[in-house]
Amino acid sequence: MSFPSLPPAVPALVNRLAAGRPVHAVWVNELGGITFRIGSGAEFVKVAKPGSVDFTNEAHRLRWAARYLAVPRVLGLGVDHGPDGDLAWLRTGGLPGVSAVHPRWRTSPDVAVRAIAVGLRALHDRLPAPSCPFSWSAQDRLATLEPLRRADLGQPPPIDQLVVCHGDACSPNTLIDDMGRCCGHVDFGDLGVADRWADLAVATLSLQWNYPEYPGRCWEDEFFAAYGVTPDPLRIDYYRRLWQSEPNGSG
Ligand SMILES: Nc1ncnc2c1ncn2[C@@H]1O[C@H](COP(=O)(O)OP(=O)(O)O)[C@@H](O)[C@H]1O
Ligand SMILES: [Mg+2]
Repeated sequence: MSFPSLPPAVPALVNRLAAGRPVHAVWVNELGGITFRIGSGAEFVKVAKPGSVDFTNEAHRLRWAARYLAVPRVLGLGVDHGPDGDLAWLRTGGLPGVSAVHPRWRTSPDVAVRAIAVGLRALHDRLPAPSCPFSWSAQDRLATLEPLRRADLGQPPPIDQLVVCHGDACSPNTLIDDMGRCCGHVDFGDLGVADRWADLAVATLSLQWNYPEYPGRCWEDEFFAAYGVTPDPLRIDYYRRLWQSEPNGSG
């Protein structure tokens, strides 16, 4: 996943939603899905091949989480049958700040790592697990894997602390304000109740490839200190292996 180096073509649907405002591609994911910024960030539109992603899941989760956290407001979604073929789309209101992997923060990973960790802690503390209608439990995730992969992984470790997990706590999904503080989260397609280590394992794994400007530098100590937890190697290992066994598990 990355910032597009060559701007991808803007689908007719996105130009229609932009209604004359400028459109910029800001993100291309590993499945070919693209996120476009409209105007100077008033709105964002995610598009993807239907079947590669279910934006209905993400919209449900965003609407639920919006009561407790700064998350994008859902403005619309659907499947368009236009000149660019069939396209699933999700349109949201823009949040302030920029992604933690924006070039501005790639050169200040110490600030970004702290913001990601503090932001994830706030997310875990604020979203109420007992009333959350979505699950991201290890058992549910294991059930979607092929039997051989499931057998390789073995049984999940006992739950440390059940929270509402983000579900894709990779660095790009935290937004950071001008002061270097977390000011929101995006990308909630997998939000659900799970052991907090399911998020912590992936959040720290993704630091390794999102801040490569400092080879050999590991940001995990800073991350865990800012989140406020002692690393748990067994659970980190299990949840990283589970993530990497899933189709989207490259980060
Ligand atoms: N509503 C929004 N407000 C601000 N930035 C957004 C918004 N939606 C998406 N973005 C930006 O676009 C990027 C890609 O969006 P995301 O939902 O993470 O897509 P993907 O599922 O392809 O990872 C994010 O990292 C963020 O920088
Ligand atoms: Mg994302």
